[in-house]
Amino acid sequence: MSLSELQSLESAHVMRSYARMPVEFVRGQGALLWDADGQEYLDLLCGISVTNLGHCHPEIVAAIREQAGALMHVSNLFYTEPAMRLAAALAESSLRGKVFFCNSGAEANEAAIKLARKAKPGGGIVVVEGAFHGRTYGALSATPQEDKQAPFAPMLPGFEAVPARADALAAAVDDRTAAVLLEPIQGESGVHVLSEELLSVAQQACEEHGAALIFDEVQCGMGRTGTLWAYEQTGVVPDAITSAKALGGGLPIGALITGPALAEVFAPGDHGSTFAGGLVTAAAALAALRLTRDEALLRGVREKGAMLAEGLAQLPHVASVRGRGLMLACELTVSAPAVARNALLSQRLVVNATGPSTLRLLPPLIVTDDQLEEALRRLRAAIAL
Ligand SMILES: Cc1ncc(COP(=O)(O)O)c(C=O)c1O
Repeated sequence: MSLSELQSLESAHVMRSYARMPVEFVRGQGALLWDADGQEYLDLLCGISVTNLGHCHPEIVAAIREQAGALMHVSNLFYTEPAMRLAAALAESSLRGKVFFCNSGAEANEAAIKLARKAKPGGGIVVVEGAFHGRTYGALSATPQEDKQAPFAPMLPGFEAVPARADALAAAVDDRTAAVLLEPIQGESGVHVLSEELLSVAQQACEEHGAALIFDEVQCGMGRTGTLWAYEQTGVVPDAITSAKALGGGLPIGALITGPALAEVFAPGDHGSTFAGGLVTAAAALAALRLTRDEALLRGVREKGAMLAEGLAQLPHVASVRGRGLMLACELTVSAPAVARNALLSQRLVVNATGPSTLRLLPPLIVTDDQLEEALRRLRAAIAL
């Protein structure tokens, strides 16, 4: 089927909630993608921080194949080994409490909001301006962005957004606060690293007022910033984290992971999902987690991130570069959407624009130095167009 036939099918039958680039990808391996004409692309976006270990990592593919051939679904009415082993591995790799599985980042945040409200009935949820926590009603109510919320008003009650400053956050948390929910590095708003001061003030305020500190690590977790979890580099240990995106190695899975204090809040019947922690997705996630917890890989993320940030800063029309590890954005003095489009269509480089002047790069953690050099060369050409 040609691209124009796909576009006709889309315009006739697919709701218009996405603005797609005019490329059809059919194959991927590592940091490379191929379109339907056999053209090769360098992927520095990873399907928005999902394929962190590269496309079709052989160990993830093998885990999926093996599990799919044995058993795919039975529901959470029964025991399955991949989900139990994955919960143990996730808890042991982070907060040492318990895990609730779901199927996406938004659902992981829904679970976190429900958990916090059950732990402190009627309590408010404090969030930070610029945050993105997902598109379902709870997650959307926690996403203080007028353009995303307004068409779907009213939002759920009990959410308060504060500027990303320690004093503003401290002032908003009181005895009626159930949780502070934040991304330690805001992804969708253009890779904004929240200050250590803000995070430690959030922790103190939550401790003082008996609220839960919840980090949304849906985008910044799973090795993206050079440690398995982003909180490890902040000096703050939250009460719970949410994960999704790269957790499934390319398949959809989400998780709410708590520390011991919140581990017993949910009781049978409180929350659930038919597909959550399914055998195939859990098997893929176990492989992805095992591969990502490799200290040499994580060191490489920190080193390559530094190299890429340095290279980006030297490109023309780049005003500034920010981020951590391989979660980077640059502020351009020219149109970022135009550069992203040029990069894709003329240079076969996949990056994306999160705003009119912000270009975001989320390369696979296994990207090589040569591929990063090549990406910088292509980006320079795309900016010059
Ligand atoms: C930080 C963060 N939280 C939540 C979400 C929502 O995840 P999903 O699209 O899997 O529902 C996203 C998606 O971009 C995200 O970046």
